[in-house]
Amino acid sequence: MAWSGLFATRDVGTMVSETAEQGVELKKAVGVTQLTAMGVGAIIGTGIFVVIGKGSGIAGPAVILSFVLAAVACAFSALSYAELASSIPVSGSAYTYSYATLGELVAWIIGWDLILEYGVSVAGIAIGWGGNLNAFLDSAFGVSLPDAIAESPEDGGTFNLPAVFVVLAITFLLVRGVTESARANLVMVAVKLVVLVFFIVVAFANFGTGNFQPFAPDGVDGVTAAAAIIFFAYIGFDAVSTGSEEARNPAKDLPIAIIGSLLICTVFYVLTTVAALGIASPDQMKDSDAPLAAALDQGAGMSWAAAILALGAVVAITSVVLVIFYGQTRIFFAMCRDGLLPRRMAVVHPRYGTPARLTITLGVLIAILAALVPLGTIVELVNIGTLFAFVLVNIGVIILRRTRPDMPRPYRVPWSPLLPLIGIAFAIYLMSDLPLETWIRFLVWLAVGLIIYAAYGYRHSRLRGPSPKAGGGEEPAP
Ligand code: ALA
Repeated sequence: MAWSGLFATRDVGTMVSETAEQGVELKKAVGVTQLTAMGVGAIIGTGIFVVIGKGSGIAGPAVILSFVLAAVACAFSALSYAELASSIPVSGSAYTYSYATLGELVAWIIGWDLILEYGVSVAGIAIGWGGNLNAFLDSAFGVSLPDAIAESPEDGGTFNLPAVFVVLAITFLLVRGVTESARANLVMVAVKLVVLVFFIVVAFANFGTGNFQPFAPDGVDGVTAAAAIIFFAYIGFDAVSTGSEEARNPAKDLPIAIIGSLLICTVFYVLTTVAALGIASPDQMKDSDAPLAAALDQGAGMSWAAAILALGAVVAITSVVLVIFYGQTRIFFAMCRDGLLPRRMAVVHPRYGTPARLTITLGVLIAILAALVPLGTIVELVNIGTLFAFVLVNIGVIILRRTRPDMPRPYRVPWSPLLPLIGIAFAIYLMSDLPLETWIRFLVWLAVGLIIYAAYGYRHSRLRGPSPKAGGGEEPAP
């Protein structure tokens, strides 16, 4: 293996023109409101509806501060995403940016790591979906699926059927070519915000201050440890950067939309958390599969409200499964097309025009994970992977400012390298609060990735292998 080959890059111009050749150059029609809605649509899901419970168990009522801390940590990296996305407006997120700039090895590491942020998180989001479905059945009809088919083995069940169901259903939709249109996304965003407003209003109408003491039983440590977990609730804002190709005015609109969607979610998350603690104690929420519904049901004794909330959560979370799973198929597709993973996986289905084989393979793997692994384990792994991607993206911005100073950058992070460095510091700070087991799993994952790269990707890469047409398909329609 020649060392220089590891750092070979793909040309940004070629990447952009390939996108154009394949007939998928997108119309520059998306404005700042739609971009912000893309972010909010991808962000609000299992994090606020489910992971909030675990967070409150760790930090106590001070989980409110954890939500703010995690948002601030995201904000700095979000600006770096905006810079890279606006300079390299092709699909594939951080994987593509790094291939164009930092070389193949780094791109592979990021692509492999993004499987945690996207693929594995779909499993986690699906588990949250199942928890709320069960809460809905329970509050509305007094029946719920038995633990045996609604929990992972570690949580006392055999497998998680609802989570498997939603993953396979979304797999089916993605194979058939259903993606969320901008209009459908606006509807979903409205549903999410209405459901949370409903919760906040009902909870404030029954508000008590008894659950806020002691406010931070584990002090600052509790706040940061919970932030490292509820960070999950903010994942997805980079969905905005994937819209850069279509943005009408990326220089101005991308950063506004990214920061705007983070800000909107933070405000909603903080209000929701305060409201939840006004009706239920951390103890009532921490072990629940649907803590907000549990707060209404057990905390405030309003099972009708719990039923509405849980149903709303099921609808809201479905769209997150769709958006994040779709993101995973696009990144995987790019990796197959580049030859780092088998190109035949990226074959496009003749009738549906989607990478069906790849989507089904991913769907089955994600379903197995969702069936058998508890949510907490998944969330920790997803978070460490995503935070690591943040570190690399921030480093990417800093390096590129030096190595490619003339690259057109419609949006530039202000005060670089200071803000990207702060982004790196925050990401490492939160990573350091994740358990040792998570670190070990993460390092094993990266090691497996490097072995696959050495054994397969390096040799088959399109940069040094046969022509890209061999077995590869066209980019799926956006
Ligand atoms: N932020 C997304 C969620 O909470 C992943 O479901």
